[in-house]
Formats: sequence, structure tokens, C-alpha cells
Amino acid sequence: MTVPSTSSPQSLRTRPGHALQGVLGAPGDKSVSHRALILGALAEGRTRITGLLESADVLATADAVRAMGAAVTREADGIWSVSGTGGEFRNDRETLDFGNSGTGARLMMGAIAGAGGSARLVGDESLSVRPMARVLNPLAKMGAVVRANDGHLPVEVSGADLAAIDYTLPVASAQVKSALLLAGLGAEGGVTVREAEPTRDHTERMLPLFGGRISVTAEDGLTVIRLPGPQALKGADITVPGDPSSAAFACVAALIVPGSEITIAGVMDNPARSGLYAVLERMGAELSDTPSGHAAGEALIDLEITASLLHGIDLEAEVAPSLIDEYPVLAVAAAFADGPTRLRGLAELRAKESDRLAATAALLTANGVKAAIEGDDLLIEGRGPGGVPGGATIETQGDHRIAMAALVMGMAARQPVTIDDARMIATSYPGFAADMRRLGARVETL
Ligand code: S3P
Repeated sequence: MTVPSTSSPQSLRTRPGHALQGVLGAPGDKSVSHRALILGALAEGRTRITGLLESADVLATADAVRAMGAAVTREADGIWSVSGTGGEFRNDRETLDFGNSGTGARLMMGAIAGAGGSARLVGDESLSVRPMARVLNPLAKMGAVVRANDGHLPVEVSGADLAAIDYTLPVASAQVKSALLLAGLGAEGGVTVREAEPTRDHTERMLPLFGGRISVTAEDGLTVIRLPGPQALKGADITVPGDPSSAAFACVAALIVPGSEITIAGVMDNPARSGLYAVLERMGAELSDTPSGHAAGEALIDLEITASLLHGIDLEAEVAPSLIDEYPVLAVAAAFADGPTRLRGLAELRAKESDRLAATAALLTANGVKAAIEGDDLLIEGRGPGGVPGGATIETQGDHRIAMAALVMGMAARQPVTIDDARMIATSYPGFAADMRRLGARVETL
């Protein structure tokens, strides 16, 4: 989100209060929302999206696909229609501002290259220091013309006649994988992407709904995704599932606030995204789920959460991609657990909206919980239920997930926790404070 220069920081504070109770509808999934807009813009004909997450990141992607030639209309709350370009983006070098959104920027680089478009991509301060070469290098190998500022935004991308690529991901990144798949739609011979660790597969699941052809196989210990190209897509009706990464905050809050019992309805249940819930169960969390349908090629569940006594965990690095965005709030859960926790293999957290490894350790330490970074691991001395002192004011460093994790901590700490600026929460979960208040949390605007 590009924070308007006229608006001033908005400080929020949480303090312990009653148990959390009630039913929450999970907000629309951010990853699926971006993909629905982009695939709709690449397709021929009309796409109707229900339950689109209307967060700043997703709205930046809506603006970007509009600038590339798609007609995008908001019909009602969460209901959007996209009239697609038939795979041909405009090539008049428009400037597209992605604000804080790495997903929007990286996926659109691939889409623009594959659809013969041409644009200049820019972003806010945080996005401008995040690594883009991981996407630009393989796109250049396919024949796209890319110009970047030392691997960072601003970036210029132009699609030419793209050639096929067979690419093994050097980092576990669904954004890189998806950018290449989107580019492959316009490449002679298509693309093959190989990944050692499975990452979120929403693009793979959604493409067939647009009439796309794609195959996923396991070969020599790798997941191999083959997308024949070039190919044309047709508009589709997409319902966006609930976001497990946003639901994670209410889930951890209910686990650590004594006496809580809540249900989060319509959460996407995808093994590449549900790592946090499996880890919390290993830590002693009482969770139960009921299947509640399907949307956008994904299974949905209603998740019941009961306040639980948690114990620390030594968490292996291999699971990291399945909970990559959830480490700040998992660290908060570990602070309220009995015994030590070690979260292994968190190097990628340094390349998120902030250096999330450092920011998470700082959040814990400032609130009286011993935490240390050892190599790429985060060590946390759990204080047990009722044992977290709290009382700090946290600099969120413009990172929405650090902001929400800090506020969750304040709901169960001995002293309130304050964040210096809550505005960035709107990049992924604009309704966060309202949803938490509805469940009974004490969230104060200062
Ligand atoms: C996303 C992939 C992940 C994740 C991000 C959303 C996506 O990033 O952190 O919030 O929608 O593909 P990486 O691909 O950089 O790991």
C-alpha cells in the first residue's frame, strides 16, 4: 500500500480482556485474488470474481491489469468483473504502481512478458528494496526484454516472442513459479518449472478453470509443472476462498486468550498453505475442522479453535514454504508456550515486506520474551500462559504481518502492546481491527 503522504500514522493498542467468542468469516485469500484478476485479464471474455479481497495490494493489481487493457469493474462488495484482453496486453510502457505488493509486481512481470505487453513497474520504499532478479533472470532467458535497477524496482518489462524454458527454482517461491507459468502462456513451447519444496499452487489449480492446460507430476524428488504454450484462456466465474494467512491471527489469538472459543468459516485448506495449523496442533492446540465446500479449485473448511496450553517445538526447515507468511504470529504463539522453540531455516523471511526475521525477534524481545537469531533459525524462550510481560510499542517497519502479530500478542500479555502505525494492515486485511473487536478483543485507536 502506498500510504498517502497526507495521512498520518495511526497507532493501535491491544490489551487483555475477555475470552474471544463467535464466528468469523475468513477474508478473501490475497494470493487467489491477485491470480483471479490476472488470469481474468489474460483470458478472452468475461470473468466474474466473487469475494475478491479488496485490500490495497489487490487493488494495485486491479489497477495494473486495467492499465494493460482489461476492463475491470467493481459491481458490488467483493464482486468484480474483468473483461479480458485475449492474451494481448498494451505495450505503451505505462507506469504500474504496485505499492507494497510483491505478489502483484512479480506475477505481472510474467504476465506482461507472456502477453506481449510493455510497462514500467514501480513500488513503495519496501517493495523497491526487495529482490526482483529471481523473476527477471528466467524471464530474460525466455527472451523478454527487462531493464532493472540492480535487480530492484523500477523495472521495465517488454514481451517479445518468448521461447520455452525448463527451469529449476533456486529459491522456494510461488511468485517466481507463477510468473514463469503466466509468461509460458505466450511462449512457443511453453514452460517447465521444477521445484524441490512444494510452494503454494493456486495458479496451477485455477488455470484449468480458465480452460488452461497444465500438468503436475513428481519426478526424481521434484515437483514438475508443465504448461504447454502458447495457449489461450477463456473467462471464468471464480469464488475466492478464505485466506488461511489472515485467519492465522484470530486463530493464535483464540489459542492464547484463556477461555476463548471461536469458529473461522470458509478457510482455504491447501497443504501448501496450512502449515501453521498443523504446527500449532503439534504444539498442543485444540483445533477441529469441518469441510465446507470448494472454491477456485480449493477445498474449504470451517475451523473451530479452543484456547489451549501450548508447548514449544523444534520446527524443521522443510515445512517453511507452507507457513512462510505465518512465522511472526507463530512466534507469538511460541512466546505463550511452555518451553523453548526453535524455528529453522527462515532465510527467506529477510526478503519479505521487512526483514521479518529481525522484526519478529525484536517484537518478542521488546515485550520481555527472550529471542535470538542463530544463523537462519529463530530461538524463543516460551514464557507459558500468562507469562508474557508485554508493554512495548512496536515499530512495525511498514510490515502488515508484524503489525497484526504484535496486536495479537497484546491480547494476552500482562501489559498492553502498542504499534506505531496500523495503516499497512490494509495491504492484506483491511477488516482486521473490526473483526478482532467483533470477537471481543480490546483494540484501541490512539
Ligand atoms: C505468494 C508467495 C509467497 C508469499 C506471498 C504470496 C504468492 O512469496 O510470501 O505473501 O501469492 O505467490 P514467495 O513466492 O516470495 O515465497
